[in-house]
Amino acid sequence: MDSSLSSQPEFDYLFKLLMIGDSGVGKSSLLLRFTLDSFEDLSPTIGVDFKVKMVTLGGKKLKLAIWDTATSVAAGQERFRTLTSSYYRGAQGIIMVYDVTRRETFTNLSDVWAREIDLYSTNQDCIKMLVGNKVDKESERAVTKKEGIDFAREYGCLFLECSAKTRVNVEKCFEELVLKILDTPSLCAEGSAGVKKNIFTQKPAQADASASSCC
Ligand code: GTP
Repeated sequence: MDSSLSSQPEFDYLFKLLMIGDSGVGKSSLLLRFTLDSFEDLSPTIGVDFKVKMVTLGGKKLKLAIWDTATSVAAGQERFRTLTSSYYRGAQGIIMVYDVTRRETFTNLSDVWAREIDLYSTNQDCIKMLVGNKVDKESERAVTKKEGIDFAREYGCLFLECSAKTRVNVEKCFEELVLKILDTPSLCAEGSAGVKKNIFTQKPAQADASASSCC
């Protein structure tokens, strides 16, 4: 039987997740590892990219649209205001990434990124996940795990340390975030397959042409 004739929806929930953090912390690498289980030396993101991954979690079929942005786009510059606000609009989850070997990427979380979330996030209940990446470079560590835990506690985020290079905790980081979203009724209501909206049409004009197509 032609599956397109089936009345079964393709997914139960569609969630929009964002990756934010300084340039070079490994946002694109984490996304690539999670969506394609691959790691390569990536050139800096231009504009905005997003990838889609279907997963089954908590007994639900989920379509995750995960947006990755070039830092220069999201750093609150005046000419990118519209782009920045559309990037944040309607997100159910935000992954804040820093590099455990570069201290300034951690201090910028409160100086830049947490402020940006306050300014642009449209969703009070949005779940935040703090991620310390590049733990494979333990000898170069400049931010302790305790500092990460303390920051996450202060800002009400989930927290994990991981490595896009070795895979450590990458899947777990997305899964924990999504399970928490599934635990939050208001976010599930927004992401429900029955809710008529298309988060993909919000993709800004400057978006990278290499972005994964999904629809
Ligand atoms: P922008 O696109 O500029 O915002 O950077 P980004 O945050 O997307 O970082 P990207 O994924 O491009 O990674 C930057 C560099 O760090 C690349 O050379 C990656 O190969 C490297 N990198 C990313 N994750 C890891 C990791 O877990 N361990 C190590 N050792 N290197 C990593």
